[in-house]
Amino acid sequence: MKGFNSLFVTVAMSIAIASCATKPVTTERATASETLAATPPMGWEAWNYAGVSCSATNEVVLRQMADAMVSSGMRDAGYEYIRIDECWTGGRDPQTGRVFENKKRFPSGMKALADYVHARGLKLGIYTDVGRKTCMAAAHVDPQERVSNHEGSLGHEFEDAMQYAEWGIDHVKNDYCFSKGLDPKGIYTKMGEAIRATGRPMVYNLCGWGEISAHKWGKEIGAQSWRIGPDIENNWKSVLLITDMMDGLEAYNEPGGFNDADMLEVGNGVLTPAEERAHMSLWSIFAGPLIAGNDLRKMSAQTIKILTAKEVIAVNQDPLGIQGKRISKGPNEVWVKPLADGSRAVVLFNRSNKWEKLSVNFADIWLKPGPTKVRDLWYQRDLGTTNDGTYSSKVEPHGVVMLRITGEPAPYPIYPRN
Ligand code: GLA
Repeated sequence: MKGFNSLFVTVAMSIAIASCATKPVTTERATASETLAATPPMGWEAWNYAGVSCSATNEVVLRQMADAMVSSGMRDAGYEYIRIDECWTGGRDPQTGRVFENKKRFPSGMKALADYVHARGLKLGIYTDVGRKTCMAAAHVDPQERVSNHEGSLGHEFEDAMQYAEWGIDHVKNDYCFSKGLDPKGIYTKMGEAIRATGRPMVYNLCGWGEISAHKWGKEIGAQSWRIGPDIENNWKSVLLITDMMDGLEAYNEPGGFNDADMLEVGNGVLTPAEERAHMSLWSIFAGPLIAGNDLRKMSAQTIKILTAKEVIAVNQDPLGIQGKRISKGPNEVWVKPLADGSRAVVLFNRSNKWEKLSVNFADIWLKPGPTKVRDLWYQRDLGTTNDGTYSSKVEPHGVVMLRITGEPAPYPIYPRN
């Protein structure tokens, strides 16, 4: 009992209460990050649908993706980065140490691709690895692809960052294969320094698969996002696994530094429409990177609708950058995220296989008693004003109801880092 009491006091003392702001900006590096990624980066990457086949990594396909991002309305919805993943390297010049593109896939060169992407109001991301080779040369080897060499950046961090800057790259994802014997924080710091030394603003994403606690030091070393878990897979179980891993990491998410739940599986043909909406809602309330992972050239109207859901995305992009908190588990799962205008975004999440009635109590989402407005964010419809202090809705199996709830705000907690 004594143990319980002292634990309670410690927790109560260490959860600060805030009425409007998150944590103060403390360092120059943090300020730079907040300029570069004030809100979570949004974009697209091929890995989730193309994987090891390298079929999406050539200049023709990447240009088509940029065009599709524009014509589908995704750019106008906020998506910005076209991220190249594996398969782009052609090798490294033994004299200069410079990495070069695979000439077969990028005959016009990376700079030309960056220019193409920039001309459409978009940005270009590139992929590397902390080790001497990328993951393609390890786990998912396709013997045909060995020809690409799959250069990692170990020992060449400064040359590589400079090369990216010269090409006009805007985002660097740094993977974690061939990292045995390396100090994770040290090696990621080195690439962070190399990126800063170029003078070109490039978003820096740490792809340490949740194995290196990067959320605890990512922002300090100048990264803007860091993976908190394994690669997402194209199934519901994987969405749930990562959702559960995000719970509890709220303290490490803020403007300029975001917990990365990995890319979306919306539009990849396996999740049901309800599951896709749930996935999109959760990734939005997490306030982390929103990176589509489907073939943008072949999207159904429904996929476009889900990926461009305006009021859902607005929750992800809210300037406070607060990660949604799961405030109740079990059959009545509720996530809440304080928004800059004092309202609360809420996801009522039904994990079960049948329709359920789920509820949220307004006192639990840090609102004072009184008239409270409820709006449905998927249907973009006001549901009315209530004085009842609570709202309930039926929620479809594996689905969500996503709401914006506006009342008189009470202070919300800021969770401690440990
Ligand atoms: C790792 C990363 C993925 C992807 C692949 C490419 O698994 O976590 O996101 O970049 O490597 O090999």
